[in-house]
Amino acid sequence: MTQNREAWGSRFGFILAAAGSAVGLGNIWKFPYIAGENGGAAFIFIYLICIAIIGFPVLIGEILIGRTTQKNPVGAFAALTHSKLWISIGFLGVIAGFMILSFYSVIGGWTIGYVVETLRGSLSHFHNPEEAGELFDALSGSAVWTLGYHTLFFALVMGIVIRGVQGGIERSSKIMMPVLVSILVILMIRGVTLDGASEGLAFLWVPDWSKINAQAVLIALGHAFFTLSLGMGAMLTYGSYMSKRDNVVTSAAQIVFLDTLIAIMAGVAIFTAVFASGLDPAAGPGLIFQTLPAVFSNMPGGVYFSLLFFLLLAIAALTSAISLLEVVVAYFVDEQGWTRKGAVLIFGGSIFLLGIPSALSFNIMADVTLFDKTFFDIVDFTASNILLPFGGLMIAIFVGWIWSRTAVMTAVKEGAETLFETYPWFEGIWFLFLKFIAPVLITLVLLNSLGII
Ligand code: TRP
Repeated sequence: MTQNREAWGSRFGFILAAAGSAVGLGNIWKFPYIAGENGGAAFIFIYLICIAIIGFPVLIGEILIGRTTQKNPVGAFAALTHSKLWISIGFLGVIAGFMILSFYSVIGGWTIGYVVETLRGSLSHFHNPEEAGELFDALSGSAVWTLGYHTLFFALVMGIVIRGVQGGIERSSKIMMPVLVSILVILMIRGVTLDGASEGLAFLWVPDWSKINAQAVLIALGHAFFTLSLGMGAMLTYGSYMSKRDNVVTSAAQIVFLDTLIAIMAGVAIFTAVFASGLDPAAGPGLIFQTLPAVFSNMPGGVYFSLLFFLLLAIAALTSAISLLEVVVAYFVDEQGWTRKGAVLIFGGSIFLLGIPSALSFNIMADVTLFDKTFFDIVDFTASNILLPFGGLMIAIFVGWIWSRTAVMTAVKEGAETLFETYPWFEGIWFLFLKFIAPVLITLVLLNSLGII
């Protein structure tokens, strides 16, 4: 039955593709600015704890559900439970994929747009972030610009996913991920060799605990989900193409390690440069599109670093976006009998259309708001702050409480026999986090998103 289903060519290919999903705008755009807004080192420390106690255990669980059933999120829950409730949780993941990709592609488009603007020379003569901000407002304020690059970005995503798991996703990740890491290494070296870089490093390493409050902790927790692509079946779907001979626990650890390493490297590259230029690390979402272009403008050879930086962002966004489309495609291929090509064209096309009002939220639809939120904000908020934590909560509960413990242990030990023999305590700790710690903490994040606490 599952004999003709696609699969990864190798475990290494899976790790790169999954790390590609995890490493995205979340690492290079969002992580540095939320760390900047919440005081730097102390926030990073809390974030690392959230990754270790929530992100890692839930990631193992999510990959395991996929690997065991060899199915998309809907089919996976159907295979394990036959319960309507759990099947609808899987379905919610597919919907979240639809939503996240629709706005993610808009920002992904901007990153390509900024590569082009760098090449055109329009990013090289700013004296301060305000000037760079004016250009940013003009570009994102243009419907043609935002829609054009949304279209281009989407075409790239569909072009990769249509080529399949091995030929498209795995192959492109094997090229893009090494390029991404190389660029980041270059940018980091540039950053730490700037005069005044040490202040940026201090910002990242010397904690200022006064900035940490309950809100900062919840932001760190929510980001732990987003950055690991958890809670909507992306890792489940990627796990479904994994071989039963491979070790789920070490694979999850490697994905977490790469994702975290790359976020920290991006933080080092960005904050050393921002501090060396005497600019504000807490500039918020505009840090990347406004503060950094001003930094690059004033750096010798800045145009090359600007080019590399926006290329880095574009690659990071692309490898994440393909995982989002793959969830939707896998569902229609496995459950509804579509061909891959048909599913990519029809459902990719629909997601692209749903992205149009998001692209227009920065210009002609900027005044169309509900509760003060634009279309873009609403889709982003609903998916990232509600559906993802909810999905993550459900996965923790499912693996911790619903799936029988014997079945979970049999499944996770496939490919990982020695690990559980060498570290017998691991099982207990993993279940402790899945059953109690993760559900409680994720519920707090969810209540906070809903404005209840
Ligand atoms: N992890 C990606 C990032 O950090 C975003 C992402 C891609 C994602 N696929 C996802 C988030 C699936 C949640 C679920 O930018």
